[in-house]
Amino acid sequence: MLHAVIMAGGSGTRFWPASRRLMPKQMLTLVGDQTMMQATVDRLNGLVPADQIRVITNAALVDKIAEQLPALPSQNIVGEPCKRDTAPCVGLAAAMVAKQDPDGIMAMLPADHVISSNDQFQAALRRGVDLIEQDPQRIVTFGITPSYPAESFGYIERSEPIDSDSPAAYSVARFREKPNRATAEEYLASGSFYWNSGIFLWRASTILDALKQHQPAMYEHIMAISDAIGTDQFPQVLQERFTAIEGISIDFAVMEKHEPIVVIEAPFSWDDVGSWQSLARMNPSDADGNTVLGKHLGIDTSGTIIRSEGGHTIVTIGVEDLIVVQTKDATLVAPKAAEERVREVVRQLTEQG
Ligand code: GDD
Ligand code: MG
Repeated sequence: MLHAVIMAGGSGTRFWPASRRLMPKQMLTLVGDQTMMQATVDRLNGLVPADQIRVITNAALVDKIAEQLPALPSQNIVGEPCKRDTAPCVGLAAAMVAKQDPDGIMAMLPADHVISSNDQFQAALRRGVDLIEQDPQRIVTFGITPSYPAESFGYIERSEPIDSDSPAAYSVARFREKPNRATAEEYLASGSFYWNSGIFLWRASTILDALKQHQPAMYEHIMAISDAIGTDQFPQVLQERFTAIEGISIDFAVMEKHEPIVVIEAPFSWDDVGSWQSLARMNPSDADGNTVLGKHLGIDTSGTIIRSEGGHTIVTIGVEDLIVVQTKDATLVAPKAAEERVREVVRQLTEQG
């Protein structure tokens, strides 16, 4: 049986002021008319039934995510008591799937990407399921052909093709999380590396075994949580044991160390919605190169990204290459070139409390 787990506990600080602690990126509508979470669930339509889709997120976000996803049973939206990065999230999810379905295969899906088409995405997952049914020990990744030497992605080096079916699948020579610029340039030039899309497919039991092998301390905590699933003790055990886990991403915790890993060359298009400027790539722009989400009147305005909420009209006169984002209690005005510095704002506001 195929299950899906959406990892939705990230923060997305570069989207301030639209993204907040209690309204992170995955809960926003940034492309099209659905939130990122809703689009991620929609992508599974017809492949994974709603009651086999789980969302793992921060405890403070559970109710709001449930409102966005009314088709999912409420017990499938699970809150972590604290942020520990993606490996503990994977462990918790795998324990839940394995309890319900010991041979279950699960897709781990990030909630922060734009992917099309749904058909090609589902074809890739189906191909992955076939590869796991041939060899249940396999961990399946989905590789994106890199277009620049990004330092913010993991890289997957392919070796031999597995077979001649399509989409193409290869065994993986190595997985390297977020290399520095020089290494990323080398990888790009070699032509045998993909970006890691962040989507993984495995049997729940396989990834639990991998955690046992590579992260034994974490595995102990996850097993204690697993034993409490379905009992009255669950909330308390989750609180104690999850908090005791050391935070680490699944990429460093398992992917860099494990074999056998397989990579499927993604037949779908994939884009990381990382920042305000990436929105300009993904949404249509007007004749002057402005990307407008909301109401805007521009006079002599070009190359500007504008987002307003609640029917508020933003007017710009004689400006170029700005980011202007208005929400009900905060407004950002910055040159596009300074978009990385939005993180500083969040840091300063957090320090001020
Ligand atoms: N539940 C939960 N708990 N989810 C989390 C947590 C957490 O503590 N931390 C992050 N997430 C969610 C995010 O919301 C996102 O959907 C997903 O997990 C991935 O986390 P990111 O923090 O966005 O990871 P990344 O982008 O730096 O790197 C990963 O994705 C890249 C592709 O975008 C890695 O897998 C890279 O190898 C990969 O290239
Ligand atoms: Mg990400």
